[in-house]
Amino acid sequence: GIVVADLMNKTGYVTYDPGFMNTAQCESKITFIDGNEGVLLYRGYPIDQLAKNSSFLEVAYLLIHGELPTESERDGFIERVNRHTLVHEDFRTFMGTFPRTSHPMAVMSSAVSALATFYPESLDPFDEDTVELATVLLLAKARTITSYLHRRRVGEPLLYPDYSRGYVEDFLRMTFAVPYEQYDANPILVEALDKLLILHADHEQNCSASVVRITGSAHANLYASVSAGISALSGPLHGGANEAVLKMLTAIRDSDDDVKTFIKRVKAKEEGVRLMGFGHRVYKNYDPRAAIVKGRAHAVLSTLGIDDPLLEIAMELEEIALSDDYFAERRLYPNVDFYTGIIYKAMGFEPAMFTPLFALGRMPGWIAQWREMMRDPKSKIGRPRQIYTGATTRDYVDIGER
Ligand code: ACO
Repeated sequence: GIVVADLMNKTGYVTYDPGFMNTAQCESKITFIDGNEGVLLYRGYPIDQLAKNSSFLEVAYLLIHGELPTESERDGFIERVNRHTLVHEDFRTFMGTFPRTSHPMAVMSSAVSALATFYPESLDPFDEDTVELATVLLLAKARTITSYLHRRRVGEPLLYPDYSRGYVEDFLRMTFAVPYEQYDANPILVEALDKLLILHADHEQNCSASVVRITGSAHANLYASVSAGISALSGPLHGGANEAVLKMLTAIRDSDDDVKTFIKRVKAKEEGVRLMGFGHRVYKNYDPRAAIVKGRAHAVLSTLGIDDPLLEIAMELEEIALSDDYFAERRLYPNVDFYTGIIYKAMGFEPAMFTPLFALGRMPGWIAQWREMMRDPKSKIGRPRQIYTGATTRDYVDIGER
């Protein structure tokens, strides 16, 4: 018979690149990263300029449509997103059927996938108007879903949106307000969260964006593709790192170890001990987002009058790591997740909500990546090859003879 090795020879050469360290899967005009210089551009605009001057929905428009909107384009976009913020009563019931203790990322990916069942008119991936409808539906519903993830956990009912407020302002109200009581979000928190969402809005071909593209490459609808991305993001090596950082900082605070001892354990590569929030596949220099987040962490905590020992621990960890050969040789610097959890905690979110907040911020990026791929005449179904290392052809053995 033909042995597998022969079959392999017939297929010709393939590139073996675990983790896609050096394989581009697409051309893209959306986001540029120079990992050596610590540069991040959305559609050519530096991230620090966007974080300083723009707003989350404006950045969403930029990523998805390629250009900054005019005033009327921006207002029209905000209005369309606002108009779709309410969810169907059955959708609310559906979200309420998950156990209250479920991890919100599992609920979020299920909820986003389920949008396809509630909005069948928004599923055609090749009709421009339909794709635009799915885009605003997803940005709007993701906000309501994220609020509800928090409220379910704390046993509070979902609130109705207030269309007169901004995207982030009303998100905080829907998340934290007590029913029938006046709630006005602290403008410092609104601004800080708006910036955090901008910083998370896209990051080119990261794990979840690649998953969104590869799912969409089979012409799966936008919700199915983004739901797959949310699942990928939940992993602690990706978006789950912000939650893992807070757990790490809390564990250091509550243990007898000081920060130096913890760093020694990291360097000794003790099982399961990594400096979470440090290191990045692409950034081999300070993550430009981390620098902005660090500044915000100080501003938010001092505004709220919070003295969180976790911030002290994080800064001490960073200082020791940045002057240590182990981290220098491997070019490990803080990434975007290192300081975000401290801000989210100060805002009143529990750690399980940190990664859903990342997902809310990443929605525009996933949508933009999916749309770009759908329109790209060169895109094909994603289908990597493998190097088969299993058994060659062998005969079936009856169960009694094994
Ligand atoms: N702490 C300690 N050592 C580290 C860390 C870390 N956080 N990150 C990498 N290293 C070491 C590795 O042990 C390895 O050392 P070695 O050469 O002696 O074997 C070397 O640095 C290279 O690490 P890899 O894991 O091969 O790097 P890779 O590019 O595959 O991984 C990753 C990148 C997953 C981000 C990694 O740095 C990591 O696990 N960091 C912690 C988790 C984290 O913060 N993730 C968030 C990433 S940003 C985001 O998703 C938004």
